[in-house]
Amino acid sequence: MTVHFIGAGPGAADLLTLRGRDLIAACPVCLYAGSLVPEAVLAHCPPGARIVNTAAMSLDDIAAEFQAAHARGQDVARLHSGDLSVWSAMGEQLRRLRELGIPCTVTPGVPSFAAAAAALGAELTLPGVAQSVVLTRTSGRASAMPATETLANFAATGATLAIHLSIHKLADVAAELQAHYGAGCPVAVVWRASWPDERIVRATLATIAAAVDGGMERTALILVGPALAAEGFDESRLYAPDYERRFRPQSASGSGTVAASIDGVDTARS
Ligand SMILES: C[S@@+](CC[C@H](N)C(=O)[O-])C[C@H]1O[C@@H](n2cnc3c(N)ncnc32)[C@H](O)[C@@H]1O
Repeated sequence: MTVHFIGAGPGAADLLTLRGRDLIAACPVCLYAGSLVPEAVLAHCPPGARIVNTAAMSLDDIAAEFQAAHARGQDVARLHSGDLSVWSAMGEQLRRLRELGIPCTVTPGVPSFAAAAAALGAELTLPGVAQSVVLTRTSGRASAMPATETLANFAATGATLAIHLSIHKLADVAAELQAHYGAGCPVAVVWRASWPDERIVRATLATIAAAVDGGMERTALILVGPALAAEGFDESRLYAPDYERRFRPQSASGSGTVAASIDGVDTARS
């Protein structure tokens, strides 16, 4: 028996990996995390599956579900929205499973920041403008922020910020960031990225709070940084003619090794 943690993606039912879909279909038990996991993803569960919404459950309740399935010898599909590596509460569940001696696997999902960037048609790392993306949040009732993980500290780098779990503090966030990025810095709020009712508001740090209406609550990302509206950025070396020519002889060598360049990093694959 195994508990399979599966990233269910940002909302669109077809933004689920094939591996995730097949695992869901193979598990007689499915625990899913509340309203962010779409019904269409749950439709992959086999007929008669035990499907449990864990939104109102405690960690002890969830561990009890794992133990009961373990006793029955039934695999569990454990679904969380987006990807599991950020704000999924997977870490504490993995620790319980280790203590209980129950095996598990982890299957990644499409994170919401990637779905939001796709909705904007934006690359968040542009040459000479921003080469880092900070996935962060502001403090909430469930989780305080570590003392050094402040918006100001992250903003000091000039990186693109993807601020989660903070749409209810939009005005404060925008005001604080103006000191670092300037009032005219582009901002986008993407609400329910990839859902059929997805909404996008683009503005500046000075204007975003007034531009976003109260209906865009909870499931929204705030993306901030000059990369969101840059046009005059450098081209990367990746597709520069001289760069390609330099490596073509290697790729044509027929040795079975293909020289490739991914995001400016030279790699070799056989
Ligand atoms: C508990 S976190 C889960 C993050 C998730 N594990 C991920 O990979 O994106 C929930 C927050 O993620 C963001 N979020 C999740 N799904 C989203 C979506 N479809 N569109 C915009 N933001 C989303 C919102 O900021 C929301 O408050």
